[in-house]
Amino acid sequence: MSWVSLFVLFLIGTSSSFGGLERIGYNQGYQPEQPIPFDHSLHAGRYQIPCLNCHVQADKNRYATVPSLNICLNCHRNVAIDKPSIQKLTKAYEKGYSVPWLKVHLLPDFVMFNHQPHVKAGVKCQTCHGPVEEMREVYQFSDLSMGWCLDCHRNPEKARDLDWEKKKELTEVHRKAPESCGTCHY
Ligand code: HEC
Ligand code: HEC
Ligand code: HEC
Ligand code: HEC
Ligand code: HEC
Repeated sequence: MSWVSLFVLFLIGTSSSFGGLERIGYNQGYQPEQPIPFDHSLHAGRYQIPCLNCHVQADKNRYATVPSLNICLNCHRNVAIDKPSIQKLTKAYEKGYSVPWLKVHLLPDFVMFNHQPHVKAGVKCQTCHGPVEEMREVYQFSDLSMGWCLDCHRNPEKARDLDWEKKKELTEVHRKAPESCGTCHY
């Protein structure tokens, strides 16, 4: 386990030499203004488009991914084509550009997070990201601190919104979320 102590020493070293870096990742409430005013409360709320239709990798991979323009154009070839923001979108698509969306969530590099096991275990997007389907602009809902991760890992069955149907399907293994340092740091 000596790599763990090396890792801790490394972190203590960096955080004492750059005091300010200690708070990296604690940007709770962060809400950058996006280049195109994409509204989740309209798409995921009023029109109830499922999260996974756009964030297609969330149940398969480390990253949930932000959708590419062809997903938007599935609808916006016909919908709201008179709106300036949609014309901007279409023009970008035709030129082969992607939209430079600003990242809302960002963990420090020394933390390993993976969507797949969480989504597969039935932890809802909203447990971690809040009521996104009510947000006109997405903001960081949870503080993403180590304590936040561990609170749930120690008691995953108590995750407030863990989907009840899924919960019944979970095996003993799935009911335990690992707490060892190497789960999230390696
Ligand atoms: C029609 C497509 C679409 C749907 C449906 C959708 N999203 Fe998104 N989502 C986006 C786009 C585009 C962005 C990037 C722009 C932004 O941040 O608003 C995004 C950004 C996000 C982010 C912030 C990512 C970051 O940068 O950290 C989260 C979290 C998120 N979505 C969660 C959800 C959840 C949860 C749902 C379902 C309730 C959902 N989304 C439904 C398209 C979609
Ligand atoms: C257990 C908590 C948790 C759950 C459940 C969760 N996320 Fe995330 N999500 C995070 C964290 C933490 C990050 C930041 C990851 C990073 O910076 O490496 C993130 C980042 C994102 C991002 C931006 C970066 C990326 O991964 O592409 C999107 C989009 C996103 N989540 C969407 C979703 C959607 C949609 C769901 C449900 C299907 C979901 N998340 C479920 C915790 C969660
Ligand atoms: C399943 C269909 C569907 C998908 C996919 C979709 N949208 Fe929409 N979008 C709509 C509908 C419906 C409206 C409301 C149109 C109206 O009010 O006239 C809308 C409205 C909008 C508006 C507001 C236009 C305005 O100025 O009033 C923007 C911007 C937008 N969408 C961007 C996006 C982006 C970016 C994506 C891809 C990430 C996307 N949409 C994917 C159906 C969709
Ligand atoms: C709301 C509850 C919840 C939160 C918050 C949460 N997790 Fe988890 N996590 C789980 C559950 C449940 C599992 C077990 C899933 C399984 O066994 O398939 C898990 C599993 C994992 C795994 C996979 C372990 C493995 O090898 O199987 C990693 C890595 C992980 N979590 C990292 C994180 C990090 C990093 C954070 C904080 C940024 C976090 N988690 C926040 C519930 C949560
Ligand atoms: C479930 C995921 C998870 C587990 C397990 C975990 N950590 Fe962390 N750790 C994080 C996250 C997320 C951060 C970044 C946010 C923060 O600093 O609170 C972090 C940050 C840290 C930091 C930097 C703190 C700072 O203020 O800069 C140290 C040191 C650390 N972890 C050590 C450990 C040790 C030692 C263990 C085992 C006892 C451990 N971690 C287990 C998720 C985890």
